[in-house]
Amino acid sequence: MRRLNKNYGDPPKFSDLGGGDISRDQQTRFGLNPLKLLGCFVVCLMGLSVLFSISIILKDSSPNSIWAVADARVLDNDIASPRDFGQEDDPMESFVKHKKKLHSAGFEHEDKLLGGLLSSRLDQDSCLSRYESASYRKESPYKPSSFLISKLRRYEALHKRCGPYTESYNKTVGKLKSNGMIEEEASDCKYLIWVSFSGLGNRILTLGSAFLYALLTDRVLLIDRGVDMDDLFCEPFPEVSWLLPLDFPIYDQFKTLNQKSPECFGSIVSNNSSSSSSSSSGYVYLHLVHDYDANDKLFFCDQDQSFLKNIPWVIMKSDNYFIPSLFLMPSFEQELLTLFPDQQTVFHFLGRYLFFPRNPIWGLITRYYDSYLSQADEKIGIQVRVFDTRPGPFQYVLDQILSCSLHNNFLPEIKQNESSVTPKNQISKAVMLTSLSSGYFEKIRDMYWENPTVTGEVIQVFQPSHEGYQQTGKKMHNRKAWAEMYLLSLTDKLITSSWSTFGYVAQSLGGLNPWILSKPENETTPNPACTKAMSIEPCFHAPPFFDCKKRSGIDTGEVVPHVRHCEDMSWGLKLVNPIGVNVA
Ligand SMILES: *[C@@H]1O[C@H](CO)[C@@H](O)[C@H](O)[C@H]1NC(C)=O
Ligand SMILES: *[C@@H]1O[C@H](CO)[C@@H](O)[C@H](O)[C@H]1NC(C)=O
Ligand SMILES: *[C@@H]1O[C@H](CO)[C@@H](O)[C@H](O)[C@H]1NC(C)=O
Ligand SMILES: *[C@@H]1O[C@H](CO)[C@@H](O)[C@H](O)[C@H]1NC(C)=O
Ligand SMILES: *[C@@H]1O[C@H](CO)[C@@H](O)[C@H](O)[C@H]1NC(C)=O
Repeated sequence: MRRLNKNYGDPPKFSDLGGGDISRDQQTRFGLNPLKLLGCFVVCLMGLSVLFSISIILKDSSPNSIWAVADARVLDNDIASPRDFGQEDDPMESFVKHKKKLHSAGFEHEDKLLGGLLSSRLDQDSCLSRYESASYRKESPYKPSSFLISKLRRYEALHKRCGPYTESYNKTVGKLKSNGMIEEEASDCKYLIWVSFSGLGNRILTLGSAFLYALLTDRVLLIDRGVDMDDLFCEPFPEVSWLLPLDFPIYDQFKTLNQKSPECFGSIVSNNSSSSSSSSSGYVYLHLVHDYDANDKLFFCDQDQSFLKNIPWVIMKSDNYFIPSLFLMPSFEQELLTLFPDQQTVFHFLGRYLFFPRNPIWGLITRYYDSYLSQADEKIGIQVRVFDTRPGPFQYVLDQILSCSLHNNFLPEIKQNESSVTPKNQISKAVMLTSLSSGYFEKIRDMYWENPTVTGEVIQVFQPSHEGYQQTGKKMHNRKAWAEMYLLSLTDKLITSSWSTFGYVAQSLGGLNPWILSKPENETTPNPACTKAMSIEPCFHAPPFFDCKKRSGIDTGEVVPHVRHCEDMSWGLKLVNPIGVNVA
C-alpha cells in the first residue's frame, strides 16, 4: 500500500492491491512471453519513431488517424509525457500499458464512465468491472447531476491530499497518539472511519450512507477492512487507498466501542460535557446500530451535529441505510436536493460509484451471465429471503412467489392438462432465483419442464448458489453473495423480499423498481402476494421519530413529500420521487 504514495507522478498502481491473478492475466491475454515482448518493444519503438516523423510531416492533415487517437489517449491521462515511454523503471511494463491503451480504445463502451460519475484516472486492469460493467448493463435511465459529479471530483482531490500516509494523515494521526493534548500545527483534514459490521447487504448500504455523510461534512472516508472488504471491492478513489492502514493507533479498540464507551456521541451530547471527554481521546464514536437510543439519535439533529464539526476523527458503526433521515436535516437538505434532484437515485449513483466487484468476483458474475442470462430475451430476477428459522422450503412461500410472478406477468401460466405440444414462441425468458434453499428453484424449474406455457414462451430457471443458511464473514460465501446481488441488478425485472438488504442493493444498483413479496404472517400466503415499490431506494429500518426543534415525537414519514414510509416496513423510511415518475 505504501507504494501507492511513493510517487504521485506515476500512473496509479492499484494492481498492487489486487493479488497475483492480474499479472498472470496480462501475459495470457497478449500471448507474449518476456522475450517476444522485448522484441516487440524494440520493433514498436522503431515503428513509433517512424510514425512520429510522419505525423510531424503530415501534422494537420489527418487528425483522425489511428495514431492521433492513440496519442490523445496517452496524453489525456495527464500523467504521460515523453518520459512515460523512455525513462520508466520498467520499459516492458510501460509497453504493455501502452499496448493496452491502444487495445482498449477500440472496445470502449459509449458510457464507460457512467455519464461522468466515474473518474477516468483509475487503472483498468486491477478492476475490470469498473470499465466492463457498462457493457453488461442497460444504460441507466437516470443521469447524475453536474453538482454530484463535481462534488465527487472534489472529494477525490481531498482524498488524495488526506488519504493514508499523506502528510496531513500522519499529522492527524499524531493528534490521536498524543491524546489530542499537544497542539501541533492544525491539520486541515477530518476523517470518518467506517467500521466493518453486520452482513454484506447491510455493509454495502451503510458504507454508501457513510460516504454521503463524509461528502456533506468534508470528511475523508476510510474503511476498516474487516474480514473481507478488500477482497470484495475495488478501490473506488484514484491513487490513494480508502483502506484504513492496519497500523492505525486505535484499530484494536473498534470491536469494543459501544454505547457505553466514554467516546460515544450519544452519551457525550446528552451529558453536556462536550469538550472534556472528546478532546481527551481525540475521537468520537457514532453508534448508529439498530439498537441505538434516543441520545445516539441526536446525530440526526442539526444542533448536535455542530458538536462533531471540529472533531478530527469520527468512528462510525452502523447496520442501517440512514440516508433518508439526512434529508430531514435543514443543514443538509438544500445540498442534498441539489446533488440529487431525483431523490430516488441516491443509492443508485452512490452504489454505482463506490462498489465495483474485484476481478475474482467479476469473473463469477460474467461467467454466470454469459452462460445463463445473456441469450434470453428477458431476464427476470427473483430474490427470496425467508425469515423463518426452520429449514424450508415452505409451500406458502412457493405459492407466494408463483402468485406474484403469474399475476404481474413475470411468468406465463402453464397448461396443466395439455397433452399436445404447443407451437413454439420465439421468446425466451431466463429466471435467476436467489435463495438460501434450492427448493423454490427446483419446483419452479420442474413446473416449466413438466408443463407447456400458455404463451409458448421458453422459460429457463437458474439458481447460482444455495448455501443453506447465511454465513456472515466467510470469504467464498460473501464473494458469491456479492456476485448474486450484482447479477440480480443486471436483470430486466425484479421481485424482491421484504426487509432484505440484499434485494435493496440489487434494485438500487440496477435502477429497477421491484415488486416486493409481502412479509407472510402465520405461515400463510399473503394477499396480495406482492406490491410494486414506490422507488428504487433502500429502506431505512430504524429511523428516529423526533422533532429536533420541538424536542418531541413526530412522524418523520409525514414531514416532506420525498421521505415516506416503506412498502415493506411500516415504520421504516425511504426516499421517493415526489413527482411520482416511476421507471419500470
Ligand atoms: C507518514 O508516515 C509513514 C510511517 O508511519 C511514513 O512511511 C510516510 O512516509 C509518512 N508520510 C509522509 C508524507 O511523510
Ligand atoms: C456525565 O458526566 C459526569 C461528570 O462529568 C460523569 O461522572 C458521568 O459518568 C457522565 N455520564 C455519562 C452517561 O457519560
Ligand atoms: C445541560 O446544560 C443545560 C444548561 O447549560 C441545563 O439546563 C441542562 O439541565 C443540562 N443537562 C444535563 C443532562 O445535565
Ligand atoms: C385436469 O384433468 C383432471 C382429470 O383429467 C381434472 O380432474 C382436472 O380438473 C383438470 N384440470 C384442469 C385445470 O383442467
Ligand atoms: C395470526 O394468528 C393469530 C392466532 O392464530 C391471530 O390472532 C392473528 O390475527 C393472525 N394474524 C394474521 C395476520 O392473520
